[in-house]
Amino acid sequence: MDYLQIVGPTKLSGSVDISGAKNAALPLIAMTLLAKNEVTINNLPNVVDIKTLVKLLSNLGATVDLKKETVKIDTCCLTNTKATYDIVKTMRASILVLGPLLSRFGHCEVSLPGGCAIGQRPIDLHLKALEQMGAEISIEAGYVLAKAPDGLKGAHIVFDKITVTGTANIVMAAALAKGKTIITNAALEPEVVQLCEVLKGAGISIDGIGSSELTIYGTDRRLVEIEPFEIIPDRIEAGTYMCAAAITNSEVTINKIRPEHLEAVSSKLEQMGFTLDVKPSSITVKPTKSIKAVDIITQEFPAFPTDMQAQFLTLCTQADGVSLIEERLFENRFMHVSELQRLGADIKLKGNSATVIGKVKLVGADVMATDLRASSALVLAAMVAKGTTNVHRIYHLDRGYVELEKKLQKLGANIKRLKE
Ligand code: EPZ
Repeated sequence: MDYLQIVGPTKLSGSVDISGAKNAALPLIAMTLLAKNEVTINNLPNVVDIKTLVKLLSNLGATVDLKKETVKIDTCCLTNTKATYDIVKTMRASILVLGPLLSRFGHCEVSLPGGCAIGQRPIDLHLKALEQMGAEISIEAGYVLAKAPDGLKGAHIVFDKITVTGTANIVMAAALAKGKTIITNAALEPEVVQLCEVLKGAGISIDGIGSSELTIYGTDRRLVEIEPFEIIPDRIEAGTYMCAAAITNSEVTINKIRPEHLEAVSSKLEQMGFTLDVKPSSITVKPTKSIKAVDIITQEFPAFPTDMQAQFLTLCTQADGVSLIEERLFENRFMHVSELQRLGADIKLKGNSATVIGKVKLVGADVMATDLRASSALVLAAMVAKGTTNVHRIYHLDRGYVELEKKLQKLGANIKRLKE
C-alpha cells in the first residue's frame, strides 16, 4: 500500500492544470448504456473510480478502449444486466447504471451499495422515482432487482431531497422511457447539467437544464447517437488547489477551469482575505497579510459544496479566530477532524458542527486518510505542519485526484509517494 510523505512548512508557486471532473465522468460513462454507437469521451480523469466504472461496463459486455484521458465505449452488444457486488461495493456511484440499464432492457440487477465512511447514503429516492415510472423493485440477497417488462413510463418525480446521482439516474431512465418525465427539486450541480447537455446534443429533448425542474421527453427505448465530447473541469480538484495556495499563503494559478463553477469557494476565500484574479478559464490565488476566520454551511450547488468542507476546515486552522463549520449533507463527514487533531489542530465537534480555533502551529505526524476529500485535507495540513507527515491509506485519494503528488511537486511542495 502507498502512503504520502510531506515535509513542511512549504511555500508554493507557479500554476497547475486541472483534470476532468470525476463526478461528471461517472454518470457520463453510465450514459453510454443509452447509445447505439461507440461513444468517445475526452478529458477523462485518470483515477481509480473511473477505471472501476469502466470495468463494470466491460463486465456487462461493453467493448471498452481506455487510453489515458480518452475512453471509447460501445454498449451495442451488451446482454448482461447484472452489476455485481464485487465492483459496486468498491464504489457507490456504480448505482448510476441502474436507471439506464432498466430503461434500455426492462430489467436489471444491481448490488446495493451499502453505507460508506461519510454516512449512510441510502438510494431510496432513486428507487422510489423508478417505481413511479412503472418499475417493480425488490431487494433480494443484497441486490436491487428491477423490472419494467413494458418499459418505463414518464412520470412526475418530486425529490424529497436534492440528490445528485439520484437526478442523474432518473434523467437517464427518463431518456429512454415512454413519454414525458418531470423532475422537480432536481440537482443543479454542473455535473448534472453536463449530463443533460450531452443527452440533448444526442437528440433527447430536455427542458429546464440547469434549473430545479427538468422535463425530459423519452424515446420509448430508441437508443441515441452520442457525438464525442469532453468532460468539464473538476471544480473540487480546482478548489482543493485553491486551498493549497491559501493554506501555504502562496501565489498559485489554477488553470483549465470554469470559474463560474467555483463561485461559493472563491467567495469564501475572499472573505478569508485572499485576493483572486479571475480570468475566463483560470483563477490566481494571491497571498494575504492575515487569514480571517469564516463560517461555512455546506449545501447543494450553487452553495458551498460538502466536497470542499474538509479542505476549508483545514484552512481554518490557519485563520486568526474562530470558524464555525456546519455539515448539512452527510452525517459522518468529520472523520478528518481527529486526524487533524493529531497534527495539533484545535477543533471541537458537536453534532454536525465543527468549531475550529485558529491559528495553531501544526506539527507533522502519522495520519490516516478516511475518505477521498479528507485525504486531500490531510495533505493540505501537512504542507503547513512543521516536520514530516505521513498520510496513510491514500487509496482513498487515488480514487479521485489525478497525480496529486506530481502536481504539488511541480508547485514546489516537498511530497513523495512511498510504499508502506
Ligand atoms: C454526489 O454523491 C457526489 N458523488 C459526492 O461526491 C458529493 O459529496 C454529493 O453528491 C453531494 O454533493 C458523485 O457525484 C459520484 P446525493 P451522491 O445523492 O449523489 C441523501 C466525492 O467526494 N440521499 O446528492 O451520492 C444523502 O444521504 C463524493 O467526490 C437520500 O437520503 O449524493 C445525502 O444526505 C463523495 N436518499 C443527500 O441526500 C437517496 O436516495 C445528498 O446525497 C439519495 C440521497
